[in-house]
Amino acid sequence: MKKILIIGAGGQIGSELTVYLRKLYGNTNVVATDVRECKALGETGPFAVLNALDAHSFAYTVNKYKIDTIFNLVALLSAVGEKDPQLAWNINIGALMNSLDVARQYQCAVFTPSSIGAFGPSSPKDHTPQDTLMQPTTIYGVCKVTGELLSNYYYLKYGVDTRSVRFPGIISNVTLPGGGTTDYAVEIFYAAVKHGRFTCPIPQDVFMDMIYMPDALNACVELMEADPARLVHRNGFNITAMSFSPEIIYKEIKKHLPDFKMDYKIDPVKEAIARSWPNSLDDTCARDEWGWKPSWQLPEMVTDMLKCIRRRKEEGKL
Ligand code: SER
Repeated sequence: MKKILIIGAGGQIGSELTVYLRKLYGNTNVVATDVRECKALGETGPFAVLNALDAHSFAYTVNKYKIDTIFNLVALLSAVGEKDPQLAWNINIGALMNSLDVARQYQCAVFTPSSIGAFGPSSPKDHTPQDTLMQPTTIYGVCKVTGELLSNYYYLKYGVDTRSVRFPGIISNVTLPGGGTTDYAVEIFYAAVKHGRFTCPIPQDVFMDMIYMPDALNACVELMEADPARLVHRNGFNITAMSFSPEIIYKEIKKHLPDFKMDYKIDPVKEAIARSWPNSLDDTCARDEWGWKPSWQLPEMVTDMLKCIRRRKEEGKL
């Protein structure tokens, strides 16, 4: 049985991954931590306040709970990273280095999300291959490429079992993402249900890869459970489920809410970032090496998102 530590558990991925992993591996075997108190996560299993940049407290927590697997979900996202690049580097790389060092000391496996943000304007735009030129132009992307390289290095040099996926934009309805370029694809649902209109910060012709949270959670588990003998790559695998532009998701939501209206007020920072990223990834290596296969496409995802958010509105929880 795994003994799992999640750092950054209060964020968009962690708030759902904690619950998912507890169902699979048992509540007491999944220790959630975050720099802030997260009441909900403490209700179903162990929770501790932990600043992942504090190497001493990090090691103490790993030792205390006899952890063998770390999910490193600490990150400042792409758009907010551009406001303070030094802070983004310190947080994103600081948490990763501490994860890798503590994993080396206590023989843990480490999962760290990489991102479509690891690619840049010189990467092929369509069906972006697994192995290609990666010259990102955001500090977030620089951290992600560095993170992939460091994770591979710790595997080769010290045998630390590091694995990661390059996540596309993750669409979910529990915890909002914050400061990302793909956030519009989540915000649009709340705006549609609450106000019947949305002002989009991303130009209508820009395509980005996306994935629905249930597939993202499944990817984390499938990769960490994969037979290492089959892994040619480790950090990080391209994965995707769908690729769309603002105009396409708008039309899909409109099928359910015919009065829904969208206009545009382009955010130049987000536009520049979005245009520097791929339109669509080629995820063949993930499919071949560990059986990656998404279950959610655009129409089903939109139906489910609207159902969940409408229910929360009816319950007065929005
Ligand atoms: N969702 C992230 C962002 O937009 C990309 O990984 O920053």
